[in-house]
Amino acid sequence: MEPVTDVWELFPRQRAVRAFSDREVPEEAVTRILEAATRAPSSQNTMPWQFVVVRDQAQKDALSAAYDRCFAQVYGDDAPARAAGRQPWSEVPVLIAACVEAPNGRTSMMTGASVYPAVQNLMLAARALGMGTVLTTLWRRENDNIRTILGIPEGWEIAAITPLGYPATPLGKNRRPPVQDVIRHDRWA
Ligand SMILES: Cc1cc2nc3c(=O)[nH]c(=O)nc-3n(C[C@H](O)[C@H](O)[C@H](O)COP(=O)(O)O)c2cc1C
Repeated sequence: MEPVTDVWELFPRQRAVRAFSDREVPEEAVTRILEAATRAPSSQNTMPWQFVVVRDQAQKDALSAAYDRCFAQVYGDDAPARAAGRQPWSEVPVLIAACVEAPNGRTSMMTGASVYPAVQNLMLAARALGMGTVLTTLWRRENDNIRTILGIPEGWEIAAITPLGYPATPLGKNRRPPVQDVIRHDRWA
């Protein structure tokens, strides 16, 4: 996909990308994307995030196996990942686990609200550079296992794992219903 520099083009061109080419993702691009992520707002500007950038093949293989099991549980599909239109994570150039501080293992609306804006920045920045991502949470079915693989300490939660790379095929604009469908004026009804 072409890079997108017009911010108004970014929103419709942000797509869930699940298959990537083997084009290398430079480390400088990852740093730039994560710099954009850290520009996001957070409660009281606490910036309670850390990002685990996974390139190691053994790590990706372990995460891939876990994700495949979760996928099969939900979709009852033991077919190879590719048949479901996605690439196994073992073949994805980079996986980024966005982590959020959650003292005493407690999470709330505020916890998510203090990291998902950063994840959205990450995704938009990647798209601006011509790359693709997809926010995933399906792996939460194996959260304990994934935490162990990634060595996540107590007091932190993984909020999203986003594959990152150059898309295998260009995707068109996303499709959404007219915005009027979701706007209510002054009161709900
Ligand atoms: C909270 C959340 C969880 C998601 N979890 C997954 C997931 O586990 N696996 C996946 O492939 N996509 C996941 N997605 C991606 C959505 O399926 C995708 O954003 C949606 O279908 C819109 O795709 P589009 O922007 O290309 O139209 C998730 C998105 C969000 C916001």
